Amino acid sequence: MASLLDGKALAAQMQTELTEQVQALHAKVGRPPGLAVLMVGDHPASAAYVRGKERSCAKVGIASFGGHFPAETSQAELEQLIQALNQDDRVDGILVQLPLPDHLDAVALLNQIDPNKDADGLHPMNLGRLVRGEPGLRSCTPAGVMRLLEEYQIDVKGKQAVMVGRSILVGKPLALMLLAADATVTIAHSRTLDLGAITRTADILVTAIGRIELITPEMVKPGAIVVDVGINRITDGAGKARLVGDVQFETVQPIASWITPVPGGIGPMTVTMLLHNTVWSYRQRLNLTP
Ligand SMILES: NC(=O)c1ccc[n+]([C@@H]2O[C@H](COP(=O)([O-])OP(=O)(O)OC[C@H]3O[C@@H](n4cnc5c(N)ncnc54)[C@H](OP(=O)(O)O)[C@@H]3O)[C@@H](O)[C@H]2O)c1
Repeated sequence: MASLLDGKALAAQMQTELTEQVQALHAKVGRPPGLAVLMVGDHPASAAYVRGKERSCAKVGIASFGGHFPAETSQAELEQLIQALNQDDRVDGILVQLPLPDHLDAVALLNQIDPNKDADGLHPMNLGRLVRGEPGLRSCTPAGVMRLLEEYQIDVKGKQAVMVGRSILVGKPLALMLLAADATVTIAHSRTLDLGAITRTADILVTAIGRIELITPEMVKPGAIVVDVGINRITDGAGKARLVGDVQFETVQPIASWITPVPGGIGPMTVTMLLHNTVWSYRQRLNLTP
């Protein structure tokens, strides 16, 4: 029976440590770290994520500078806003909450963010730094996965890792991070033939797919470490909504060695890495060594 990779517990511990660091740094520098989360439109899940991020910022002592803008806000207005935040010395991190309304070009907006304030690590400069193995801001969800594996002393070196999903947000950067940690990495996606044959080779199986419980026990190697990034909302017969992952948790847990729950696995780690990134760029910008 697999043990749990408890992202919720690690996130709570990291947030306590960040709160202490921020208190000490705030007293020394005279201002707290600042994060601007920009949300456009009324996507309900995004609104909940943004509220969660702002609550977490307040808890650890990071100042919030974000804003919620109407769906019809223009590209030019948002670009101006990002430029102003780039110039604002109180702001160390800027994040554009995705998805954006259809008339907006998300990539063009992300490219406007000062790479040294790119709290989500999605600017081409930071993705390039990741490819080259240079220090830089790393995407929050993949960084959260790596931090969780590290916490449980799961050494990925030399192991077969299968990454299902190749998005720029999760799959691609996470595959690169696993590679940097010396795993042998295979990336699978929607066009992969015989997905089960690939996933069964995995000592470490990571899923970022967005398909309800697609991964069933016959697709998992006994003893594998299973990290489920997927967050899917389902409604049961009584009309009650709950979250499930890409992995069929109840049937896969008995054959895996480690597994992340959904919720309580990677979700809390993602928010915590956002706070971590904001504090990291605050230190970098002020030349404060850790
Ligand atoms: N825990 C967190 O904090 C967190 C953060 C971000 C995302 N997520 C969740 O993670 C999931 C993925 O997010 P994302 O942004 O990476 O999504 P995405 O951009 O939609 O990418 C999904 C990936 O899964 C692949 N895929 C889709 N159906 C597949 C199938 N039947 N077999 C194999 N591969 C398949 C796609 O392949 P193609 O490239 O061929 O289309 C794509 O590469 C979602 O559930 C999202 O909510 C969670």
